[in-house]
Amino acid sequence: MDVLGMYPTFYVPAIGTAWVMGIIGVIHVVASHTSVGASFLFALLETRAYRDNQPQLLEFVKKYGLFLLVFSYVIGSITGPGIWYAITVASPRGVSGLIHNFVWVWAAEWVFFTVEVIGVYALVYLLGKIDAKSHLKLTWSFALASWATMLLIVGILSFMLWPGHDDWYLTGSTNDAFYNLNFFAHLGTRTGSMFVMATLVGLMVASRQKDPALRRSVVRFLAPIGLVGGLFAVMMFLYYLQTLPGNAIVMLNTHLLPVYARGMVAVFVVATLWLLFAFWQPQRVYTALAVAVFLFVAIVGVWPEERMRESMRKPYVAGQYIYGNQVIARDVPGKGITGEVDRIADKGLLALHPFVPERLRVVTDDNRLEAGHLLAQIACANCHALERGAPLRSLPDKFHGATDADLIAAYLRGPLKHGMQPYMPRIDLPEAEIDAIAHYLAWVNGAPEPAIRQANAGE
Ligand code: HEC
Repeated sequence: MDVLGMYPTFYVPAIGTAWVMGIIGVIHVVASHTSVGASFLFALLETRAYRDNQPQLLEFVKKYGLFLLVFSYVIGSITGPGIWYAITVASPRGVSGLIHNFVWVWAAEWVFFTVEVIGVYALVYLLGKIDAKSHLKLTWSFALASWATMLLIVGILSFMLWPGHDDWYLTGSTNDAFYNLNFFAHLGTRTGSMFVMATLVGLMVASRQKDPALRRSVVRFLAPIGLVGGLFAVMMFLYYLQTLPGNAIVMLNTHLLPVYARGMVAVFVVATLWLLFAFWQPQRVYTALAVAVFLFVAIVGVWPEERMRESMRKPYVAGQYIYGNQVIARDVPGKGITGEVDRIADKGLLALHPFVPERLRVVTDDNRLEAGHLLAQIACANCHALERGAPLRSLPDKFHGATDADLIAAYLRGPLKHGMQPYMPRIDLPEAEIDAIAHYLAWVNGAPEPAIRQANAGE
C-alpha cells in the first residue's frame, strides 16, 4: 500500500499546538537560561568569597543557590519534559527527524544534565561543610556542565532553522548538522542573555538582604556582569541575523520585526538602565522593582524571541526539509529520505495519509465538508487556527472572511500549489481536495451549507 509516514494530527483549537509549545518553551527558556547563567555567577561569587575571605558573601551564595534550586531547577525540569510531550504530538516527524540526527547529542546532554541536577543539590548542601578548594571545584564543574547542556541543545535548535550548507543533505552526518552556519551566533546570543537573566534574578535575591554592605557589594558585583552579558547578546544577535536563510529574512521583515522590534529595543533599554541604576544606587534595589524588571524582560523579551525563532523557520519545522505540516519537502540522500510533495500532488493526502477514516478517502458531495475539515487540519492547522478570530494566524481570517469557495480555491490553486510564498510550504493537492478545503473554509466563514451542496451539485 502506498502510504506516507504521517501520524494523527493533534489539533488545539484557536491557539494551535504552536502556542502550546510557545508557552511551555518560554517558561522553560526563562528558567533554564536563568539557572545556567546563575551557575556561573554562583561560581564567581563563591570564588571571590573564598579569595577575599568574606563569609557573609558565602551566606548569600547559599541563599541564591537555594532560590535557584527551587525556582529554576524545578520549573526547568518540569517544562523540559513538557516540551518533549508537546513537540511529540505537535510535530512527530519533526521530532523523529531530530532524533535520527542527534540521538547521541541528546544522550550526551542527559549526562551533563544529570551532573547538573546532582551538582546543584550537592553544592548547596555541602557549602561550608567541605573545604573551599573541593567545593569550588564542584561549583565550577556544575557551571560548565550547565553550559554544556545549553551548547548541545543550541546545536540542535539551530539545525532546526537550517544546516546552512548543502553538505548535510548529502552526508547526513551529525557533525554537519550540529556545526551549522548559525550555531556560534545562536550560542553566543543565548550565553549573553543567560548572564542578563541570572543577574536580574541575582538582584531580586540581593534585594532581600538585610545587611546593606553585603547588598551593596553583591549588587555592584553582579550589575556589570549583566551589562557585559547584555552587550554581548546584542552583538551576537546582530551576527545571528547575518546567518539566516532567505525564508527567515522574508518572515522577519514582513511579519515579525514590525510587531516585535519595539518591544525588543524596550527590553534592552529597560534592562540596561536598571543595571546602571543598580550599580549607581545599590541600596535602592527594591524587591518589587527587581521582580517587575525581571518579569518585563521575561515576558516582553523572551516571548518574542521564542516566537520569532519558531516563526522564522516557517515553512519548515526542521532542517529545511520537513515542512511544518509534517510533509517531507525535499530529498535528503544522506538519510535516504525522499520528498513527498509531488506524490501528494499526484495521489492526494486523503489517499496517502494512514490516519484518514475510510469513508473520507474519496471526496463526495456528502462528505465534502468533513473531508475539507480534516484536510485543513492536516495540511494547514500546524500553522493556522481554523476558527474565525483565533490568535494563531486564523485561516478563515487570512481569507478575509470570504464565503466564496472559488475565491479560496484560487489561492490554493495558485500561490500555494506553486510554493510562491517563501514562508509557506508548497501544498499541491488534487482538485477534489482543493475544492473540499475551499468549501470548508467558506462554510466556516458563514456560507450556508445547503448552498454549497447545491453549487456542487450544479457543477
Ligand atoms: C508551515 C506553516 C504553514 C502551513 C502548513 C500553512 N501556512 Fe499559510 N501561512 C503561513 C505563514 C507563516 C503565513 C504568513 C502570515 C502570518 O504569519 O501571519 C501564512 C499566510 C497565509 C495566508 C495569507 C496570505 C499570505 O500569503 O500571507 C493564507 C491565505 C494562507 N496562509 C493559507 C494557507 C492554507 C490554505 C494552508 C493549508 C492548505 C496553509 N496556509 C498552510 C504558514 C503556513
